[in-house]
Formats: sequence, C-alpha cells, structure tokens
Amino acid sequence: MNLINFKSLGDARGELVALEGHRNVPFDIKRVYYISGTESGVSRGFHAHKNLQQVAICISGSCRMVIDDGNNKESVLLNSPFKGVLISSMLWREMHEFTSDCILLVLASDYYDESDYIRDYGEFLEIVNG
Ligand code: TYD
Repeated sequence: MNLINFKSLGDARGELVALEGHRNVPFDIKRVYYISGTESGVSRGFHAHKNLQQVAICISGSCRMVIDDGNNKESVLLNSPFKGVLISSMLWREMHEFTSDCILLVLASDYYDESDYIRDYGEFLEIVNG
C-alpha cells in the first residue's frame, strides 16, 4: 500500500493541509472530486484505471480502502486528513465501511474519461496477469 503522510501546517487555531502537484502529490492534479453522504452498508469503486493516478484522503470520518494488484489485496482504514493512499494505474480499488460523516477527497491526474476505466474484474485479472 502506497501511503502518503501529509504534514499539517496547523497552529493553535487548528489544522491545515496543502496539496500540491509534483510536491506532496506525485502528479499534476487535473481533477478533484469528493464522495460524501454514502449510505450505510454501501461499497463503491470496483474498478481499475488504465492510466489514471489518484490520491484519496478521508478528510472527515473514515472508510476502508482495498487495493488489489491482481495478486495481492491490501486494505487500509483511511481515517485521517493527514493520510492519503496513492492509487497508481492498473490497481483494482474498492471502498467499504463508509461512516456517515465520511468525506473522501480524491485528486486525479487527468480529467474524467470513461474509456480509462476497467469495470470488469475478470478483464482486470486478464490484463495484469496476461
Ligand atoms: P464512479 O467512478 O463509478 O464512482 P465510484 O468508483 O466512486 O463508485 O462514478 C460514478 C458516476 O459519476 C459515473 O457515472 C461516472 C461519474 N463521474 C464523473 O462524471 N466524473 C468524475 O470525475 C467521476 C469520478 C465520476
């Protein structure tokens, strides 16, 4: 699992985290989106990307991120605005166990492009394992 620790620039007033492309985020940030209000028991993701790189940070609440490279599955509880997971291309991701206050912020290296998605797990395994 490729975790990134983000330093807080906070002070006595509270926390502050800055995210900068090619500095603490290892790509140009072309798109930002966030997932919130996820209903209890709902899981999301279930896809890989051919080229896209993303960093996901739970800036409120928590969720469990499962990353699968086709051979190994790793899981991390994202429960801190100071911890992100770098999701490189060709990794199957699933998000589970969203708390009702979870806001999952995602930084992406490119614009939304449905043709970059692999949404079929069998197809994903075929591509990564040949
Ligand atoms: P999807 O990537 O399937 O969500 P998740 O992986 O979190 O379960 O996206 C859900 C829908 O939103 C799908 O119809 C595509 C659309 N979408 C955009 O239009 N732009 C975006 O940047 C994203 C992430 C999704």
